Amino acid sequence: MRLKIVVLAGDGIGPEVTREATSILRAVAEFGGHEFTFVPALLGGVAITAEGTPLPQATLDVALDSDAVLLGAVGDNKFNALSPDKRPEAGLLQIRQALGGFANLRPSVAYPALAENSPLRPEVTKGADILFVRELLGGLYFGAPRWWNRDTNEAINTMRYTKDEVVRVAKVAFELASKRKKKVTSVDKANVLEVSQLWRAVVTEVAKDYPEVTLEHQLVDSMAMHLMNTPRSFDVVLTENLFGDILSDESGVITGSLGMLPSATIGGKVNLYEPVHGSAPDIAGTGKANPLGAILTAAMVLRHSAGLEADAAAIEAAVAQVLEAGHRTADIARGSNQQVVTTEQMGKLVHEALAHA
Ligand code: NAI
Ligand code: MG
Repeated sequence: MRLKIVVLAGDGIGPEVTREATSILRAVAEFGGHEFTFVPALLGGVAITAEGTPLPQATLDVALDSDAVLLGAVGDNKFNALSPDKRPEAGLLQIRQALGGFANLRPSVAYPALAENSPLRPEVTKGADILFVRELLGGLYFGAPRWWNRDTNEAINTMRYTKDEVVRVAKVAFELASKRKKKVTSVDKANVLEVSQLWRAVVTEVAKDYPEVTLEHQLVDSMAMHLMNTPRSFDVVLTENLFGDILSDESGVITGSLGMLPSATIGGKVNLYEPVHGSAPDIAGTGKANPLGAILTAAMVLRHSAGLEADAAAIEAAVAQVLEAGHRTADIARGSNQQVVTTEQMGKLVHEALAHA
């Protein structure tokens, strides 16, 4: 298997966690006889410093010509005075749009070893493993008209979806569910919103092509409660843009730390992989960054861009094993019998667990 991966390490802890993620991918390539090439490129604050723009054309060109883009994080306090369209974060929004992915996958997994880190009771979270499939290019965030009239004190955003937009993201959810626990929970507000009625009708139609997958519909408000009460009862959760934004953040509670959460955005020209966290300027350069979100993101690269499911699962198992053995970065350390390790040490531990698997 050959894979050209463009690495946008970015700012703050981005380069620190990305180094550990790429080193795990190198190990997988070595064990499996694969040829992975890593092409570094500039995005965010580092790109502003070097090129005067958060997304240089050269970065966009090489990203569009790759098999996968692996991003660290962008954002640096020294650019806070710039207008939003010139800041590091603008580069991220631009590259997301250019790559065109419409399905944002966010797994929320309760690692047994981190049960105490969640405010939820261990008996509630135990075994929870949810995959959010959030539609990323439609809905309120992009719908027109959108404006704020400061004279009339009126503002508007538009929630709009077409059938095709719902079909394509629903297919992604059913495909993924058919390889997991075979259940899709589609979230909407069909008792109030026309858009949700369309959503529900289309998802129900798509479901007919996947008879092995069970479909249930949930209203978004009660879903917010069910997620915290019975997280184990969900497998794949399919949502439109805004609902998915809110519910996937809420379910971060199940995992216990922002530093543990990976994501992938698929369906466009090139898939984009990034940990959920930002550049964490408060801990950059201290060796305190948790690289596990980035390492789990690397596993998603293998699963969704290389078809290497067994290798992806092996990385996830190695992460669980290292946590089980009591190793913690500072953000997830609780209790006395745990060894607090640095970013680099955590990467090495996962590497060793993988080598001995
Ligand atoms: P953040 O996610 O960078 O940090 C929030 C808190 O979580 C901080 O206390 C940080 O130390 C901690 N944290 C985050 N990731 C961690 C990790 N891997 N290990 C240990 N602790 C971790 O969010 P914040 O502070 O709101 O934003 C900082 C900068 O990052 C801003 O410039 C923001 O715009 C940018 N940002 C970039 C994102 C991206 O590139 N995808 C996403 C979110 C924020
Ligand atoms: Mg959000």
